[in-house]
Amino acid sequence: MLTFPDGFLWGAATAAHQVEGNNVNSNWWVMEHAADTTMVEPSGDAMDHYHRYPEDMRLLAEAGLNSYRFSIEWARIEPERGFVSRAELDHYRRMIDTARENGLDPTVTLMHFTVPRWFQNDGFWRAADAADLFARYSETVLPILEGVEYVCTINEPNIAAMLAGGEDAANLVAYGLPNPDLGVADTLLESHRRSAEILHTVPGVKAGWTIATQAFHSTGEPGADEKLYEYGHPRDFWYLENSAGDDFVGVQAYTRTFIGPEGPTPVSEEVETTLTGWEFFPEALEMGVRSAWELSGGVPVLVTENGIATSDDSRRIAYTEGALRGLHRAIEDGIDVRAYQHWSALDNYEWASGYRPTFGLIGVDRETFERTPKPSLAWLGAVARKNGLEG
Ligand code: NOJ
Repeated sequence: MLTFPDGFLWGAATAAHQVEGNNVNSNWWVMEHAADTTMVEPSGDAMDHYHRYPEDMRLLAEAGLNSYRFSIEWARIEPERGFVSRAELDHYRRMIDTARENGLDPTVTLMHFTVPRWFQNDGFWRAADAADLFARYSETVLPILEGVEYVCTINEPNIAAMLAGGEDAANLVAYGLPNPDLGVADTLLESHRRSAEILHTVPGVKAGWTIATQAFHSTGEPGADEKLYEYGHPRDFWYLENSAGDDFVGVQAYTRTFIGPEGPTPVSEEVETTLTGWEFFPEALEMGVRSAWELSGGVPVLVTENGIATSDDSRRIAYTEGALRGLHRAIEDGIDVRAYQHWSALDNYEWASGYRPTFGLIGVDRETFERTPKPSLAWLGAVARKNGLEG
């Protein structure tokens, strides 16, 4: 038996915009409905998680999981600049309470890619007061976070910086060409630090951000190793290094990328790929966790996302098992890992790719919203109950 540390959190993750539905005051809703949108479809009702979260949480808990990561939608809390919706604050407080009542430790993300439309119109992450506005939002949600242990300030700032850099939104899912905007990255870091400082005024709250890690491999061609460092540094390494001193770092890992002398190379036709076109590569998690630990100088790790888009649930189980074996090796080597939160609890809106890539442990009928737990949910729940994997 490969046993995990005592008190290990086993969970699943979602993000508000991808599951709630009708997130009409957000910048993504605007982009989805723009005449020249590159997104394959709008998010619409999504999974109606906004109303159905009690059922979703119950399914996760009944399967055996003990944690749930979800995000608070800034665009709902502050739909107009300076106007705070008390009703929406109550909504998210109820979500936190409901998670607890189900025995799920809530991990709460404050910003998972989407921002209010006014924030984007007023300059987005380039605005001189962007970090002030994020700090003010963090203060606004502070009262409802009482009793929450792990709060993620910003989800995947390395991807958010790329998006704000004006790259086509499809890069969000394609993990495409690097276009890091270091001005934006600095603002995101400042926003994260100020938010963490505010969060620390609530006793017991631990603050961190979550980083999209990539297992980078050099193709071995001349010049590829240098390119790998050059590419990896603005993409992941800088963010992991800047996690030093945080309470935890969230690691999100899915696949690997080969870097040649010109940069990232296309996925080989010889390998198994998933519905996002990524290589089936469960070892990515172990690599991401190891690099987060090394680059941050030993900050405790939460795996805040890891999963696979597939219509073949047996491949989801195989992927997850492979990823967990690698995670266990990292733990055996002394890395302090506190959680594994699978992406995703539900099939959901995969940004520019729409609803086709299905990442969920639970399937959702998009007309009736009926939930159907997949065998992978029962499988992960059984691992959680045993706090381990059969050796
Ligand atoms: C990263 C993001 O945080 C999440 O929103 C996305 O759906 C998954 N990974 C899969 O691409």
